[in-house]
Amino acid sequence: MLATNIVSLLLLVVSLLARPARTASRDPKKPNFVYIIADDQDYATANPDIMPHLHKWLSQHGTNYTHFYTPMSVCCPSRVGFLRSQHGHSHNVTNVVLPFGGWTRFVAQGYRKDWLPTWLQSAGYNTYYTGKLMNGNTVTNWKTSPVLGFNRSALLSDPQTYVYKNASYAIDGTKLVSYPGNYSTDTVRDFGLEYLDEAASHDKPFFVGIAPIGPHAQTETVNGVSTFTDPVPADRHRNLFADHVAPRKANFNPVNASGASYVKDIARLNDTVVDYLDEWYRNRLRALQAVDELVDAVLRKAEQLGILDNTYFIYTSDNGYTVGEHRRQPGKTTGYEEDIRVPLIVRGPGISANVRNDGVHSNIDLAATIVHHAGAEPSYDLDGRVIDWSAGDKPSSRESGTATHHLSEFWVSQVGGAVEGKYSDLGGKILSKYRTLRIKEQGHDYAYTLWCTGERELYDMTIDSVQMNNLLSNSTLYGALNSTDSESERLASRLDSLLLNLKACQGSLCRRLWYNLFPEGEVQSLDQALQSKWDDYFDRLPRVHFDNCRDGYFPTEELPAWRNELVHVNKSLIAAA
Ligand SMILES: *[C@@H]1O[C@H](CO)[C@@H](O)[C@H](O)[C@H]1NC(C)=O
Ligand SMILES: *[C@@H]1O[C@H](CO)[C@@H](O)[C@H](O)[C@H]1NC(C)=O
Ligand SMILES: *[C@@H]1O[C@H](CO)[C@@H](O)[C@H](O)[C@H]1NC(C)=O
Ligand SMILES: *[C@@H]1O[C@H](CO)[C@@H](O)[C@H](O)[C@H]1NC(C)=O
Ligand SMILES: *[C@@H]1O[C@H](CO)[C@@H](O)[C@H](O)[C@H]1NC(C)=O
Ligand SMILES: *[C@@H]1O[C@H](CO)[C@@H](O)[C@H](O)[C@H]1NC(C)=O
Ligand SMILES: *[C@@H]1O[C@H](CO)[C@@H](O)[C@H](O)[C@H]1NC(C)=O
Ligand SMILES: *[C@@H]1O[C@H](CO)[C@@H](O)[C@H](O)[C@H]1NC(C)=O
Ligand SMILES: *[C@@H]1O[C@H](CO)[C@@H](O)[C@H](O)[C@H]1NC(C)=O
Ligand SMILES: *[C@@H]1O[C@H](CO)[C@@H](O)[C@H](O)[C@H]1NC(C)=O
Repeated sequence: MLATNIVSLLLLVVSLLARPARTASRDPKKPNFVYIIADDQDYATANPDIMPHLHKWLSQHGTNYTHFYTPMSVCCPSRVGFLRSQHGHSHNVTNVVLPFGGWTRFVAQGYRKDWLPTWLQSAGYNTYYTGKLMNGNTVTNWKTSPVLGFNRSALLSDPQTYVYKNASYAIDGTKLVSYPGNYSTDTVRDFGLEYLDEAASHDKPFFVGIAPIGPHAQTETVNGVSTFTDPVPADRHRNLFADHVAPRKANFNPVNASGASYVKDIARLNDTVVDYLDEWYRNRLRALQAVDELVDAVLRKAEQLGILDNTYFIYTSDNGYTVGEHRRQPGKTTGYEEDIRVPLIVRGPGISANVRNDGVHSNIDLAATIVHHAGAEPSYDLDGRVIDWSAGDKPSSRESGTATHHLSEFWVSQVGGAVEGKYSDLGGKILSKYRTLRIKEQGHDYAYTLWCTGERELYDMTIDSVQMNNLLSNSTLYGALNSTDSESERLASRLDSLLLNLKACQGSLCRRLWYNLFPEGEVQSLDQALQSKWDDYFDRLPRVHFDNCRDGYFPTEELPAWRNELVHVNKSLIAAA
């Protein structure tokens, strides 16, 4: 009991110390933010050959983050993660549609007056947003449950959101307009440019969010049934990239199946299907051209307006994407690297030009970072970390040494668009409930996943970045992990214990990887944790578990939860205290 109380006290003290200091001043020189978010763009396609303007305007003048991840690999949950700086298990908007996801769920959770745009307005910002906000903003509910927090907005509305040449927008919560024939990404660009003009004409600092749908699949919904076809490029781009094919990485339609049953059971694809995937991939590259032009237009406009120096420009995507990896049909939603790793490129005040940062960061860190620079004051302790944008490739100086891990989660057994395209019936069961931990520090680089089926996957990303050699392929469902049995189990016992304490974390405890397990600081890195003297501690901790694979996040069906009594307590230190 005593030990537990001291542990709780330590937890409290550290969580207070870990709260980011905030400037309350209304400094007229507060920075502006321009946030550009592509839809379903994977990390690999954000490169100079495919997006030269992105490279020229942002990478060459800023920091290119090479290990930036999404907390949930599907649109709406990921976007809510950004907008509230929270893990999926904290915001609990876990799907794109009701009952567990979409705008209506967001509203029902009471988030409409308590998210990034309202925090920024309270901190003296004017806020603007155009394009895709989240799934479930519709041509009817813009009026009944309007979006709050933006001074001006032009929001793509379902069922037209993913129709590239006939988008509907809810404008400022006052009217609905459609632009038949106009190319969606161009229309979003034009709204974005208009908002930049307007924002720059006021004295206040501003946030402008610009969210084109490229390169998401074209999605047409009739009577509630959505059909996903390849993305539609602008006419001016439709003949580009004629000789490109989906990258033939070692995990592209591999001869030997691997991984968890979700992908292991998919049959090898024949040439007809591979040709279809290649064309799908080419249309992704083509659709990205209008996004790249949008970046160019926005940065040119910012240059004309003279706001380049005091504005942060952030380029990212909501989730990654697969085309043929592990034999998969087009789509997202798993914890594999293609699905969770996304671009992040940032330029702005204090950020050095042409720098690369290989630290592990998460989409939920972005709003925490914006809030920090804006001097805004959220109503709760954010899960996300403040990214040190000036750090370049050095480890973050704030909360030093902790920018090494990322948690991705998923609780969806039915989602329109988990698997897309005309061969989606080949694509893997639509059953996807898992937790994935990415950890990268001191030469270690691992991806660990536990599925709701009890299957475990562990990949050494330093030698197996394509995730073809599951180091736990022989483990039984929910098999015990015993450090003395194998090096893989020793590793997995550590990673599973980290998952156990992160899987329901909130606030500062999410940001401090080893603290829950070792509040006295005996272990602060994976290297230290792997010492054999800790084998017994890690082997005896309860394992992460799912009772079932049903849709939705139900904490009582994922017991045990972390509790402080599980912590290793050094009795001699307690006695001395
Ligand atoms: C970001 O850096 C990675 C790794 O060096 C590189 O592959 C990618 O092309 C860069 N992206 C851009 C847009 O410059
Ligand atoms: C933007 O909205 C905020 C909050 O309602 C308000 O204080 C501010 O004056 C608005 N800005 C403009 C330019 O209307
Ligand atoms: C565009 O969408 C609207 C619905 O918002 C529909 O009424 C109209 O027929 C569509 N136009 C074309 C050209 O598809
Ligand atoms: C739609 O296209 C027309 C014709 O090119 C153009 O005049 C108009 O400005 C476009 N509208 C928007 C909102 O981009
Ligand atoms: C596929 O598995 C077979 C049998 O284990 C092995 O001989 C072969 O080398 C593997 N092929 C590849 C490309 O890994
Ligand atoms: C290739 O696979 C698809 C999907 O199973 C099937 O419809 C098609 O007939 C196959 N084509 C050939 C040439 O076998
Ligand atoms: C799984 O077991 C087989 C047969 O004992 C062995 O050859 C293989 O190396 C094991 N794989 C792993 C990843 O431990
Ligand atoms: C792990 O395996 C060793 C050797 O088989 C055994 O002595 C030990 O009790 C096991 N640990 C746990 C926690 O089961
Ligand atoms: C998440 O939502 C589900 C369904 O509404 C609810 O049963 C569950 O308790 C919620 N979880 C948390 C942590 O709030
Ligand atoms: C407990 O703390 C003491 C004093 O710092 C140290 O000597 C000892 O190694 C620690 N024991 C464990 C198991 O960490």
